[in-house]
Amino acid sequence: MKHITAHFDSEAYRYPTEIGEDHVQDRKWALIKTHAPKAGIVADIGSASGRHSLKLAARELSVVAIDPSQKMLATLVRGVENTDLNGRILPCASALPHLPFTQARFDLVYCFSTMLLLPQNEQEIAVREMSLMLAPGGILILDVAGTHSLAIRYWRRYYQKRGMDGVFGHTAQGTRSLLGDNGLEIVSMEAHGVLSQFLLFPGLEKIPGLTRLVRGRGAKPGWDAVISRLLPRLAERWYVVTRRPADGTN
Ligand SMILES: C[S@@+](CC[C@H](N)C(=O)[O-])C[C@H]1O[C@@H](n2cnc3c(N)ncnc32)[C@H](O)[C@@H]1O
Repeated sequence: MKHITAHFDSEAYRYPTEIGEDHVQDRKWALIKTHAPKAGIVADIGSASGRHSLKLAARELSVVAIDPSQKMLATLVRGVENTDLNGRILPCASALPHLPFTQARFDLVYCFSTMLLLPQNEQEIAVREMSLMLAPGGILILDVAGTHSLAIRYWRRYYQKRGMDGVFGHTAQGTRSLLGDNGLEIVSMEAHGVLSQFLLFPGLEKIPGLTRLVRGRGAKPGWDAVISRLLPRLAERWYVVTRRPADGTN
């Protein structure tokens, strides 16, 4: 965790605090927004500097923003200063797989672009931990890296060069089991990145207009969304929405 924290501390000054322009980033926010309760308490795990927490708190929800990077959280706190969001966002320096919430029950928990940094066995513990944080009927949204994607090799090397263990994925079936084994019902599971991962090849991103055509923009899907829908097993990431059954079984 030391290397992960050091890496994200060093990224804090430039990590986006906006949702992001491309369709894949837009889908993260669309899912959070769709499943956010009208009132209640939400946990943003791997919140970074608050790109989602800040927007959610503006909807009058209480948000616990959890991240091990003190510098990310410090940026988030600066973003809240002098706004009327003060008091609605609670920063919490902590890291999966174990979080310090034994009593709190959240209506929504989400965790994007974070769990994949943990080895598979720790991801299993993390999913268990997050499922236990949910109130009955509560929603957990997370992304899971696809083990058959090309991009996972690229990102593994990228993070290993920075002293981390790498990134770790699952198959589509493994993802369903990981969630189902913790008593979570799958509400939706969408594939992303089958085509856009090829933009990682040097030079392709420089071709004018290609990135936008492939990745889409805002709510408008690009070619990637079409191909990922056709070949979901090859996804770079699945965005999965799950629910803890309302009868409280877990
Ligand atoms: C790539 S950023 C993702 C930020 C945001 N969720 C998003 O989708 O844009 C990953 C964030 O997760 C944090 N992080 C890394 N490992 C974590 C862990 N085990 N538990 C919680 N947060 C972690 C990092 O410090 C970083 O701020």
